[in-house]
Amino acid sequence: MTEKSAQLKLGDNTLDLPIYSGTIGPDVVDVSQLTGAGVFTYDPGFVSTAACESKITYIDGGKGILLHRGYPIDQLADHSDYLEVCYLLLYGELPTAAQKEQFVSTINNHTMVHEQLRGFYQGFRRDAHPMAIMCGVVGALSAFYHDSLEISDEQHREIAAFRLIAKMPTLAAMCYKYSLGQPFMYPKNDLSYSENFLRMMFGVPCEDYEVNPILAKAMDKIFILHADHEQNASTSTVRLAGSSGANPFACIAAGIAALWGPAHGGANEAVLNMLTQIGDVSNVEKFVAKAKDKNDPFRLMGFGHRVYKNYDPRAKVMRETCHEVLGELGIKDPLLELAMKLEEIARSDQYFIDKNLYPNVDFYSGIILKAIGIPTSMFTVIFALARTVGWVAHWHEMISGSYRIGRPRQLYTGSPQRDFVPLDKR
Ligand code: SDX
Repeated sequence: MTEKSAQLKLGDNTLDLPIYSGTIGPDVVDVSQLTGAGVFTYDPGFVSTAACESKITYIDGGKGILLHRGYPIDQLADHSDYLEVCYLLLYGELPTAAQKEQFVSTINNHTMVHEQLRGFYQGFRRDAHPMAIMCGVVGALSAFYHDSLEISDEQHREIAAFRLIAKMPTLAAMCYKYSLGQPFMYPKNDLSYSENFLRMMFGVPCEDYEVNPILAKAMDKIFILHADHEQNASTSTVRLAGSSGANPFACIAAGIAALWGPAHGGANEAVLNMLTQIGDVSNVEKFVAKAKDKNDPFRLMGFGHRVYKNYDPRAKVMRETCHEVLGELGIKDPLLELAMKLEEIARSDQYFIDKNLYPNVDFYSGIILKAIGIPTSMFTVIFALARTVGWVAHWHEMISGSYRIGRPRQLYTGSPQRDFVPLDKR
């Protein structure tokens, strides 16, 4: 990092705050000395705060650019596959053929879960939201894998990463099977990552299951598009949990919980529910008006983004994939027409133009997931499955380097100190 500085006048003092430059993107101002000057920075929602240094993912929100280790997301979506992107995110380089073969075989050797974990599902109601189950079950992995909890041991960190990437599809499919009352399907390791997942989701023990290659390819592309996204809310949650030294399974469970919210990963489920609620193109204008009304809590789900003030590059790929997959399957989904009309009307509306509100990754993803046969309630679980590699890569990057426990401060506006009042005096 190159040293420049910013001067901050505080009362009679002028502080020299170092400025660091990254490879690309905005410079950062190091404000760590401010505590010593008796003040804190104030940035609710971390709109202008860089919480860490990272080499994994770069986003240019103004230009709608997303790079994973320097590679543009559209090139990875078109030419790579999910496990290759996992290798890239974890190790920083695209794998050679031999490295890829080794990595795929390693992941395949970790796809099964401890048999006793199956019992964990029995404790949930059949209609439990699958994200509730995932929060519990992923956290519970730390009770089964004591040989990969020593976070200071590189070997342990790597095995934990392999286990999490490998087991998420198995655990996710088990959520779906449990909701149906169908038997869990064991992974079949001669299948690809997405083929294995689809078979565990839709196969049954009493007959062979032929994976549709179109759906497997679409599933893999969706995994790629959700793999990582810089310091978003759930990734920041994983980093904060990891900074206390918590084990990787607990950290990923915390990330799953943070992702669940409708403002974040829960938006894909909310988009499908919103499109179903809108129902018909004739209602679009009414709902766009509701989204603009400050007094109406309704928001256009799948629209807007904290960082992108341009089209989310993932949404572009997702929209193209929608047309490809539905076309190849011969499906005419009225929800796709509705989504396209909604985008067209919203993006020509001054409110959305002024606020730079564009479709984000969640706007079209649900339509493809629906075409694959995945129920709406499982959409955010798919997001969590795919994002696990991003969470793990950031966790690993932090723990492998130097880090301190994250401990933000506050602007206190509560009561000044006062003495206790006995009950009979109140
Ligand atoms: C993801 O961070 C990431 O990288 C996340 C993610 C990832 O890969 O990890 O990209 C995944 O979470 C995508 C976002 C999914 N969420 C949604 O689609 C929910 C709908 N969108 C919003 O709730 C909102 O746009 C957020 C949460 C995404 C962003 O919120 P911000 O940055 O805090 O922006 P804001 O809420 O302050 O909105 C700015 C203005 C407001 O109006 P004003 O108060 O300035 O007048 O834009 C308006 C908002 O009311 N606005 C919307 C809107 N989104 C923002 N108005 C209508 N519909 C919307 N969708």
